[in-house]
Amino acid sequence: MSYRSLFPLAAAGLLACAQGPLPAPVDAHSLSRPDQVLVQHVSLDLNLDFEGQRVHGRATLELERIDTGAPLILDTHGLVIEAVRGADGGERQWTLGKEQGRLGRALSIQLIGDDAAVSVLYSSGEGAEALQFLVPSQTDGGQQPFLFTQGQAILTRSWIPLQDSPAVRITYDATIRAPRDLTVLMSAGSRNGPTPVLEGSKDVAPTDLWRFRMENAIPSYLIALACGELASHDVSERCAIWAEPGVLASAAAEFADVERMVQCAEGLFGAYQWGRYDLLVLPPAFPYGGMENPTLTFLTPTTIAGDQSLVSIIAHELAHSWSGNLVTNATWEDFWLNEGFTVYCEGRIMEELYGQERANMEGLLAWQNLEQELKALEPWQTVLNIDLAGHHPDDGFSGVPYNKGALFLKRVEECVGREALDPVLEEWFSAGSFQSRSTQEWRTYLLEAFPDLSAQMDVGEWLDAPGLPSDAPRPESDALTRVDGELQRLAEGSPCSELNSDGWVTGQWLRFLNGLPVGIGAKAMAELDLNFGFGVNGNSEILFAWLRLAIREGYSKADERLEEFLTTVGRRKFLMPLYEELCATPEGRARAEIIYRKARPGYHAVSAISLDSLFD
Ligand code: BES
Ligand code: ZN
Repeated sequence: MSYRSLFPLAAAGLLACAQGPLPAPVDAHSLSRPDQVLVQHVSLDLNLDFEGQRVHGRATLELERIDTGAPLILDTHGLVIEAVRGADGGERQWTLGKEQGRLGRALSIQLIGDDAAVSVLYSSGEGAEALQFLVPSQTDGGQQPFLFTQGQAILTRSWIPLQDSPAVRITYDATIRAPRDLTVLMSAGSRNGPTPVLEGSKDVAPTDLWRFRMENAIPSYLIALACGELASHDVSERCAIWAEPGVLASAAAEFADVERMVQCAEGLFGAYQWGRYDLLVLPPAFPYGGMENPTLTFLTPTTIAGDQSLVSIIAHELAHSWSGNLVTNATWEDFWLNEGFTVYCEGRIMEELYGQERANMEGLLAWQNLEQELKALEPWQTVLNIDLAGHHPDDGFSGVPYNKGALFLKRVEECVGREALDPVLEEWFSAGSFQSRSTQEWRTYLLEAFPDLSAQMDVGEWLDAPGLPSDAPRPESDALTRVDGELQRLAEGSPCSELNSDGWVTGQWLRFLNGLPVGIGAKAMAELDLNFGFGVNGNSEILFAWLRLAIREGYSKADERLEEFLTTVGRRKFLMPLYEELCATPEGRARAEIIYRKARPGYHAVSAISLDSLFD
């Protein structure tokens, strides 16, 4: 597959001037030029240096030379380049361009003759955004350090020099040296190891060698690695749960449905193309809920609730095996193609496995969150086909690509019927497998599949206009309506000890907490705490909603729990609103600053960079 086929319009000359070279890549978040020289395979040979908190070694890149006179241009961010060599072992000249903020620096390599591969010898720089090294105290076991990577959106360039654009697909293999007793995992189909390579001496710690190979062409943001004290539990032939030993039993119980989920998804979206589907539960510093690294979803331990009530996140990350990993957003302006499709697919899996009522409840909670968020976002941030010119991809990150995106597909479903939409969706995935797609391509495909659709809905408004179109299908949930009734009774003065909450599930408690009126005050909070023990709830979503409320209502009894939460959990989705809520008052802000100073070294760069904006 050539880069030309990734940009059919460009290949057809529609974007280029008549006979001239192909246009510059449409990805504004990569400094690379895959239109000139295209990287097709990356071979890593890396040492994990826990002491120096860096990775160092060699990346060998296999190339397709499109413009034979052009240099190879790669993305790097903070990388320390030591040398570049050709396949013959000879040095190649290279230069690093000017630093362009978080886009990093272009590494330009002069190719010689018919060079078809080059090796870059390098190490990652200080504070590499993709890497998070944890000290033992940040792990459950408390004895060993931990390392994980987070590539999406444009962080891979901070640990591997490559063309860091989702429009470029590569296969990869890796040889990783890591301290003995630690396990290394990667987002690769085949995982071999460990092989001992070095017996320890006074100066050299014993090392093991681990080998990996990913045969499917993936975008660079899906290259991922984790290393720590890890154990696994087989759920089925193709699914295993990985976690620290002390977390494994609860993780395995929580995610026992994973094989059933894969089978359900295959029924809905077509065969699973990636071989294994394993889950890796990381330490709580992990900045996201989940990350769909192929063959190995990365997860926050905050999804372990004890009652499988947060497993929609597995449905979500699994669904990315089709939307995102098989068919990938061509640029970060098409991010909704990854996330909106995935939230829609997640809903379909949840509905089939756990019933319509649960799917509706989760859909309505998402709707409520989206409504809230829309109030705070700037109009340009609420457009699906977002214009990120001059912005980091993270600036486009919100509930919009996720939930407005999913509502768009639900609206299409409403118009054409599920029976008609399903095969079209399956065809989108199969025809686009291992390729990257733009919003424009989806628009064309959709309108070709359903020529009459425009008579029923305004596809252009959905994709290009800000806000939520008035025909957005609002889910209805009887379970949440019952909660609203109880909230009403409470507002009318009924004591909370008389709340009719028998059998309420997580989603209902969330609706309840989010629906409590502003200004109920610390006394009412104390009463709620007494009756329902929210402050000691083991469900992270409920605890988060409670802590946020506690800050808002000045309920100081929750202070200690709040501080503990903020200093152990690194998930940005929880941290941002809690710190924001704290910063809403001068006293809260002073407290936030103290906690943040203490907690920041334990946060991943993704969370820290977002949070820094609150404390400028
Ligand atoms: N791919 C995303 C996480 C992501 C997005 C990382 C953009 C970096 C940049 C992942 O699939 C995701 O959406 N995670 C959600 C959970 C989901 C259930 C909505 C999260 O982390 O909250
Ligand atoms: Zn996602």
